Amino acid sequence: MNITAGNWQTAITERFGIRYPIFAFAHSADVIVEVVKAGGFGVFGGTRNTPDEIRSVLQDIRSRVGDRPFGIDLVIPKGMPAHNNRETIEAEIPDGHRMFVDHIYQKYNVPAPVRSGMRTRFVRSEESAAAQVRVVLESDVNLLALGVGSPPDVVALAKERGKTVLALVGQPKHARRAIEAGADILVAQGSDAGGHTGSIGTFSLVPQVVDIASGRPVLAAGGVVSGRHIAAALALGADGVWTGTRWLLTRENHTDPVITRKLIDAESSDTLITRSESGKTFRQIRSAWSDEWHAPGAPEPLKMPYHDILVGDLLGAINDHHVEPLMHSGAGQGIGMIRAESTVAEVMATLAHETEDAYARLCGSK
Ligand SMILES: Cc1cc2nc3c(=O)[nH]c(=O)nc-3n(C[C@H](O)[C@H](O)[C@H](O)COP(=O)(O)O)c2cc1C
Repeated sequence: MNITAGNWQTAITERFGIRYPIFAFAHSADVIVEVVKAGGFGVFGGTRNTPDEIRSVLQDIRSRVGDRPFGIDLVIPKGMPAHNNRETIEAEIPDGHRMFVDHIYQKYNVPAPVRSGMRTRFVRSEESAAAQVRVVLESDVNLLALGVGSPPDVVALAKERGKTVLALVGQPKHARRAIEAGADILVAQGSDAGGHTGSIGTFSLVPQVVDIASGRPVLAAGGVVSGRHIAAALALGADGVWTGTRWLLTRENHTDPVITRKLIDAESSDTLITRSESGKTFRQIRSAWSDEWHAPGAPEPLKMPYHDILVGDLLGAINDHHVEPLMHSGAGQGIGMIRAESTVAEVMATLAHETEDAYARLCGSK
């Protein structure tokens, strides 16, 4: 490994022919394109998009990055229903949970939804995942990232199509399973991370996953927002980093201004892990939303995808109608170190030079 000004060599830079082993997960195609142009690796979060949307966003990104590599992330958890049938799921939602959701509508004067929410556009099911995977396989995207679980059949199909498969893992046992399934690259995502996350901290998780990976590339994730983190990740044995929170406060992410303000103001201690977003443990910034669900007497969130269907339209209405106290965003603990909006190019340049500085200091040349 070598990290000197503008000339980094790790297993990941070599493998993809990229300048920096910095992976950026985002829901904005503009972020992905700018990260790729700045020498990193962008991965579009497509799990809540329809197959048609995925096809068109992949074509759009390709047309803007040329033949440089980029990826798409899907979440394909175990135990989802076979079909995309909202009525069947609705029928099993307990009345007490519906009443609690009604109470939130009333207490905060949330106007009725004008459209389905992000989580209710379709039901997470085997059927919807298979349709998303089909489009990804047909596309020329270079890498498929699997956010929760790594189904061996999907891994095999993607590899047959020449795609690199990357699996996010939050526990050593998940790392072993991902390797058995055939994943090429592991992302060791510690609890500090924004979005769905586990309970093991990044510092404890990364070296364990590196050992299990026995030479396969590993990216460190969870709390990586500066070059000091990147240098630390390399010292822990990772070959690069995987980041999410850092891009929420870039202009190209087009984050809603209310959320932007909340993110800028947030300290690390203003994030918490809650099941109230999707039914699975999810780190987000604290708001009236999490306070309501964690208050005494609130019902336990349902499992995914029942919880998605219970709250999805309400979450959509909160954002569409700007119901400020309830507005929130997934974000990791690293948010406490980000104090202003900037462009993707600025963030990439800062990460690069901070890492080079930290590396030089560790090598004793500073
Ligand atoms: C708002 C938000 C949404 C996320 N959604 C997903 C997702 O759909 N799929 C996934 O694999 N990871 C998702 N993640 C997790 C990221 O892929 C990444 O592992 C994480 O952000 C890394 O930690 P960091 O937030 O501290 O950088 C999300 C993260 C955030 C902040």
